[in-house]
Amino acid sequence: MRREHPTTVARPLEQDAANSTAAVAHPNIALIKYWGKRDERLILPWTDSLSMTLDVFPTTTRVRLDPEAAQDEVTLNGEPAAGEVARRITAFLQLVREMAGLDRRAVVDTRNTVPTGAGLASSASGFAALAVAAAAAYGIDLDATALSRLARRGSGSASRSVFGGFAVWHAGPEGATAAQGDLGSYAEPVSAAGIDPALVIAVVNAGPKAVSSREAMRRTVDTSPLYRPWAASSKDDLADMRAALGRGDLEAVGEIAERNALGMHATMLAARPAVRYLSPATVAVLDSVLQLRRDGVAAYATMDAGPNVKVLCRRADARRVAEAVRGAVPDGTVLVAGPGPGARLLNEDRC
Ligand code: DP6
Repeated sequence: MRREHPTTVARPLEQDAANSTAAVAHPNIALIKYWGKRDERLILPWTDSLSMTLDVFPTTTRVRLDPEAAQDEVTLNGEPAAGEVARRITAFLQLVREMAGLDRRAVVDTRNTVPTGAGLASSASGFAALAVAAAAAYGIDLDATALSRLARRGSGSASRSVFGGFAVWHAGPEGATAAQGDLGSYAEPVSAAGIDPALVIAVVNAGPKAVSSREAMRRTVDTSPLYRPWAASSKDDLADMRAALGRGDLEAVGEIAERNALGMHATMLAARPAVRYLSPATVAVLDSVLQLRRDGVAAYATMDAGPNVKVLCRRADARRVAEAVRGAVPDGTVLVAGPGPGARLLNEDRC
């Protein structure tokens, strides 16, 4: 989160008749992945993860408390939310109500500028924006750490989108009580000295995924013989990643990110039944990234719960990398992102 934008305003409800707030948050892409929960209800992960928040695809969410309403009303991109999406948002609002000691229902309007459910982190920006807007609408004054914990309860990766730039999400203490686990699991900013990174995003298929990341990570943890070895190696990856960021070594950052992501996909491929998000177009982009490296360009790939590829490179190389990736997937959409800001309340929209 950027310091110049305080994320919450502590304002008692009675001073704010309309209780309407809006917040904006951006997605993040993990360079060290979160894959696997040790507690499904509290969304506590098995491993720490580390990400870069983007400057593209913001989600804007408005929350208005409605004293007349018998239930929450949720609109997603202008359409009433239904099914699992509505259930997750309502459960999240219930958590905020318990924290606030209020039962007033809410009218939520959320707009993504990224395709929903396509492995492009719409749940990260979505729940980070909802956490910030809902906490303010219900009058709870939370600092950035507490907002990160709260966002985590909506979607694990959302804990990291509370912050701009690079952020690490601590898994928290294993074997602790639920309360200690919850308290210890939050994200915080990581400083990166002197790197000027870009992520070239190749959207090879923007459709919703066949298996949700939630189901896929559950199946991986329960059935994949590769899960534990990956989780162990991910700890080493994180330590190496922090050191590489600290010394501003983009090549090392990219190498570690790529091996961590490929390892995560290997765990899924070994799940029973297998989960395979990578498509022929994904592999074509991976080949173009290898060719870029052979040509002396520092470019490294990472993939999440979908076939789309994000290529980390220097900002100065972004155009060349984007051209190479476009050549590999002529039917895809390619765009360039940089590090973006943390979640923030749109104070001017309070009414
Ligand atoms: C592959 O945060 O969407 O993008 O906590 O179940 O909502 P839930 O999962 P989610 O998973 C993101 C997984 C990932 C890797 C990452 O972002 O770290």
